[in-house]
Amino acid sequence: MDEADRRLANLLESLEDTDTYISDYRGQVSNPSDPLKPTWSCNGIDLYLGDSREILPRIEYADFCITDPPYIPGFEWVWEFLGRNIKRILPVGGSLVTLCGHVHIPEALDNLRNSGLRYWWIAGMRHTIEHKLVIGKYVVAQFKPALWFVNETRKGANSGTKTPFDMVPGTKNDKSRHKWQQPTNWFEHWIDNLSEEGEIVIDPFMGSGTTGVAAIKKRRRFIGIEINPYDFDQCVERMKDTFEEIGNG
Ligand SMILES: C[S@@+](CC[C@H](N)C(=O)[O-])C[C@H]1O[C@@H](n2cnc3c(N)ncnc32)[C@H](O)[C@@H]1O
Repeated sequence: MDEADRRLANLLESLEDTDTYISDYRGQVSNPSDPLKPTWSCNGIDLYLGDSREILPRIEYADFCITDPPYIPGFEWVWEFLGRNIKRILPVGGSLVTLCGHVHIPEALDNLRNSGLRYWWIAGMRHTIEHKLVIGKYVVAQFKPALWFVNETRKGANSGTKTPFDMVPGTKNDKSRHKWQQPTNWFEHWIDNLSEEGEIVIDPFMGSGTTGVAAIKKRRRFIGIEINPYDFDQCVERMKDTFEEIGNG
């Protein structure tokens, strides 16, 4: 059984047990008339198990959003949803950095701009492995693009405080927690450059929680949302491991 099969078997096993599994958390997932309460919370890290479409509209504030949303068929709503909500919760000067597949850039740009956010830059995560030919496009992809938007302007733009590199290699990609797991170092770079210690970083599609791991390492607070209970559990485990690793929990 290879790694992908093992992950699928684990996922199926967790889904068989979905009722019990979710009910462990269910009491804590807010229904829309209750005050919003994280499913798991520790040392400034608030994780929500549930649909971002229900939870994110109820989040009031974050200093910086960094995310890697799904953009496979069926998720065409993501860019409009993300733009509208992140525009609402960011302070003026705050940033959104979102990974985005090459072919989805046109609709992502249109929707994010329509939300009132301001386009700032395109950045990239350089692949560190030999990369595959993209079928139908006849291109060998060497990087994954990320769109950087700001709310009106960029904090510190005039004083020039922080100057991120736009192309940062992802360290060797560990996929042990999620099939789309991304390298932590790339998120650390952006969190470092576009937020300050103690500020709130948000990821409405956190997968296995890589952004949360990076936020803890950079001493930020964090809000993460994930709909899949199996992935959510991976997040909780990774947060605990990271607190242990940095001797904070
Ligand atoms: C590309 S993955 C993120 C992977 C992450 N960057 C990591 O390193 O593990 C996107 C995640 O969004 C989650 N997702 C999809 N629809 C969602 C929704 N409506 N609300 C919250 N999460 C959702 C998926 O379950 C998936 O785990």
